[in-house]
Amino acid sequence: MKIFLTGASGLVGSAFAEAAHRRGHHVVGLVGRSELPVPGLAEKIPHDLLKAGALAPLILSHFPDVIVNCAAIAEPAACDADQARSEALNAALPKLLAQLAHHLSARLVHISSEQVFDGTAAPYFTDSRPNPVNLYGRQKLESERVVAAAAREFAVTVRAPLLTGNSPSGRRSLHERLFADWAAGKPARLYTDEIRQPCTAGNLAEVLVELCERRDLLGVFHWAGVEPLTRHELGRRIREHFKLSEKSAPIAAITRADTPAVSPARPANLTLDLQPLVGVLKTQPESFEAQLDQFVVPPPFREWYHQQ
Ligand SMILES: NC(=O)c1ccc[n+]([C@@H]2O[C@H](COP(=O)([O-])OP(=O)(O)OC[C@H]3O[C@@H](n4cnc5c(N)ncnc54)[C@H](OP(=O)(O)O)[C@@H]3O)[C@@H](O)[C@H]2O)c1
Repeated sequence: MKIFLTGASGLVGSAFAEAAHRRGHHVVGLVGRSELPVPGLAEKIPHDLLKAGALAPLILSHFPDVIVNCAAIAEPAACDADQARSEALNAALPKLLAQLAHHLSARLVHISSEQVFDGTAAPYFTDSRPNPVNLYGRQKLESERVVAAAAREFAVTVRAPLLTGNSPSGRRSLHERLFADWAAGKPARLYTDEIRQPCTAGNLAEVLVELCERRDLLGVFHWAGVEPLTRHELGRRIREHFKLSEKSAPIAAITRADTPAVSPARPANLTLDLQPLVGVLKTQPESFEAQLDQFVVPPPFREWYHQQ
């Protein structure tokens, strides 16, 4: 199949390009500012998605069977820092892609987030009531709505959890951010009462490839790893996995009560129920142990790591 991929240089997009290529698909990928190579792409196109009017002719000229949207401003703080830009990437772009998918009768695979929930009533089912507590969550919820409105019979949206794995930059995923703190001589401040259910970008990418091929699956689904864990536990296990000492890789245990200014915008428990998707796909969710086995020392911090 011919797949048109946005966000090909990101954590999920780059994993998707490789997974789709392995399955024999032809992937045309858009990248933003990144100049890093993206293995798996048949064609790599630098393109600013904020440039109004330029995307539709580009997609129409490629006439894809599937559009996969991995472009976003994917961090709550970055959304707050530039509301107009995050609105354009996180809500207006999915709407345009859904309209184009409808026009082309193409499949649309879109990614939303666990952050559409407020974290007070886990576990969350696909029909649980969303109630986002931050701008990012509100934009992702809006993206679900506009995608369904414009391309109900073509689109599938996956709510994804906190993502792990190895990103092209070595600075994007969970363990890479911990390395960034440790290499800078800072303790990683990790909540003992915030629960997440991470999965690797690679595992999510396998799910997205299956969803490209399964046009019978429509609407909103959940995907995540096997275990809900606290952020503190995640950090501790990452430190242990890389055999780093408490001295070189310090972790400061904090609670939500320690950060009253930001905690209301941070959902406490985002455990997801994975039915019905987990029952109908070949790809299965991974344990955190299986995820750890895939993590490499991020390239920007290799020198620091070898000095420990
Ligand atoms: N990461 C997580 O923990 C997480 C959790 C749940 C859901 N999600 C969702 O998963 C999806 C993928 O997230 P991710 O973590 O892979 O994001 P990411 O690593 O930050 O990648 C974002 C991608 O969007 C591209 N992009 C951003 N602005 C652009 C612009 N103006 N023009 C062109 N491209 C632009 C970036 O291109 P350049 O880098 O080349 O500029 C990059 O390829 C998003 O929908 C996100 O909301 C992520």
